[in-house]
Amino acid sequence: MISKKIDNQDIRIFPNALEAAQYLADELIADTTHYHAGKFNVALSGGTTPGILFDELAKKDPHALSLKNINWFWGDERMVHPLDEQSNYRMFYQNLLSKIPVGFTRVFRVWGEEKDAELEATRYEKLLNNVLPKSGSYPVFDLVILGLGVDGHTASIFPDQWDLLISHKWIDLAFHPETQQKRLTLTGEVLKNAKNTVFLVTGSAKADVAREILLKEGQFKKYPASFVGSRHGKTTWIMDAAAAAKL
Ligand code: 6PG
Repeated sequence: MISKKIDNQDIRIFPNALEAAQYLADELIADTTHYHAGKFNVALSGGTTPGILFDELAKKDPHALSLKNINWFWGDERMVHPLDEQSNYRMFYQNLLSKIPVGFTRVFRVWGEEKDAELEATRYEKLLNNVLPKSGSYPVFDLVILGLGVDGHTASIFPDQWDLLISHKWIDLAFHPETQQKRLTLTGEVLKNAKNTVFLVTGSAKADVAREILLKEGQFKKYPASFVGSRHGKTTWIMDAAAAAKL
């Protein structure tokens, strides 16, 4: 592992995506082992990258480890049925939840199958309000795991939907700029309120945008991912060599 620090952000670089995912899985288990009294609240990213993280977590023994201490939430979800291949929850279910004793997990998915997305946003916000501690007027996750789009989006906060970054709402409607796919996303203020934030970024396609964001170059000011690191805690980038090639 190569470690760097850029502007108070820790960068952890691994030879390949698998080793990056293994590191994050180990860190997540380590972070949660002392949460015997309460629950460790995690907001998961979507897309394809988290699949390898879930595979690695599925290899852990839930009896010996602390998967039972984790409350699983999502930073964003596509408004599709949970069995739809586009569903972020589906990947979590297929790669992890279906492989471990359900009694060890408390999963709070976004109901993508809900036709009224605004109604689901209201339901999810009430759930967050009931389960999570607050700081200021926003809920606090112990950990937010984020991905990075080549256009600099994160969660489902896209560059052409800047209002989601600064909204006072906790969760709101988003639309994929090309496909217009309807999504729900945690807003920038909620993401920034996390105790700790991890970007899990792999693949050469992300090398340019990751460099712009981390080195504050080029178009970084137009990228939502530039502005959602933990406000009070640590922001760590866990990357493979391909994504970190231009750092
Ligand atoms: C989503 C994600 C999104 C994702 C990036 C990277 O629901 O699509 O939350 O922010 O993390 O688009 O996606 P990949 O991991 O597929 O590259």
